[in-house]
Amino acid sequence: MAESTPNPEPAPEEPGGGDRARGLVSADADLDDHAVESALRPKTLDDFVGQHRVREQLSLVLRSAQRRGRVPDHVLMSGLPGLGKTTLAMIIASELGAPLRITSGPAIERSGDLAAILSSLTEGEVVFLDEIHRMARPAEEMLYVAMEDLRVDVVVGKGPGATSVPLDIAPFTLVGATTRAGLLPAPLRDRFGFVAQMDFYEPAELEQILRRSATLLGVELSQDAAAEIAGRSRGTPRIANRLLRRVRDYAEIRADGALSREVASAALDLYEVDQQGLDRLDRAVLHALLRRFGGGPVGLSTLAVSVGEESRTVEEVAEPFLVRSGLIARTPRGRVATAGAWQHLGLAPPPDAAFSAATLFDEVDGGTEGG
Ligand SMILES: Nc1ncnc2c1ncn2[C@@H]1O[C@H](COP(=O)(O)OP(=O)(O)OP(=O)(O)O)[C@@H](O)[C@H]1O
Ligand SMILES: [Mg+2]
Repeated sequence: MAESTPNPEPAPEEPGGGDRARGLVSADADLDDHAVESALRPKTLDDFVGQHRVREQLSLVLRSAQRRGRVPDHVLMSGLPGLGKTTLAMIIASELGAPLRITSGPAIERSGDLAAILSSLTEGEVVFLDEIHRMARPAEEMLYVAMEDLRVDVVVGKGPGATSVPLDIAPFTLVGATTRAGLLPAPLRDRFGFVAQMDFYEPAELEQILRRSATLLGVELSQDAAAEIAGRSRGTPRIANRLLRRVRDYAEIRADGALSREVASAALDLYEVDQQGLDRLDRAVLHALLRRFGGGPVGLSTLAVSVGEESRTVEEVAEPFLVRSGLIARTPRGRVATAGAWQHLGLAPPPDAAFSAATLFDEVDGGTEGG
């Protein structure tokens, strides 16, 4: 990958290198996604597909608060990109019939930015704070107090003459969203009354989302075409919706506009998204691991060099999904292909393939070992 930036190390809170272009199966939103997502977002809890437990728990939290005539507890939503955190935040406000204020961690550079928002709230307002783990530390401390005591301490003046003036704020519901819950300081996490952990979606749920999106986009999507796209969407609604748009493009130009299984499959093959949702980089990594290194174990940096990528790209962009799909394992001695990897590429594993020994090692999560 040609990196010409003077500082090739992206900020640590940007998994996958921030806005590094990743193609069709990236869970991060691109400009195209931003343009259409608001149109595809479900507006009510009933329309929100999947995440049954979260939905039911959240519905209880909202209903009981409404019954008691109280403002609901603060809600934290945690989960990987594209799983529906922003969507759910908007639904919370609309279910409550409350105004929604939207901001994000990076937008709050100074505590004054946060004070300005909080002090202008009306009672019952929902504040959506996206990427809450990226908020500046002093603002974070102001937020603790606001969440618990409905008060902000505004500093008036500068230097030794500065005084702190306490200001009461209206009862509000904070909805925080984060892709990295682990980066949130415990005192902040503890102040949320409800934490919604968003999981990957089942294929049947993705099919349902796809059928809904197709209707909104005005395209005809057959049942088996929906299944075909869902299977390649990495358990992520954003990816499913994006693949649907690419299949639609293909259908309009190369077919009669109708989305059949054949059309979906031909389109996604053309875009190099395979049956399991692996893209070209994922497959290059698998190929190298199997063909050049006999299935491993091989160190991360050796593997990265052999596919012409930086270690970081392989580790953060390709590996998480390969590991989650059970195709490769991280071991203390390096990366190892599983039996499923050989099967996926249609290759016969050698008799001494490492996967049979891989279980001897404890899997190492998120490690950079073996590089
Ligand atoms: N449960 C769902 N039902 C239907 N559509 C969904 C669902 N979850 C997500 N989507 C669709 O996926 C798209 C991405 O969802 P959303 O923007 O809420 O993800 P996110 O978790 O906020 O991602 P990020 O971490 O990148 O901000 C939305 O446009 C929405 O249409
Ligand atoms: Mg979001």
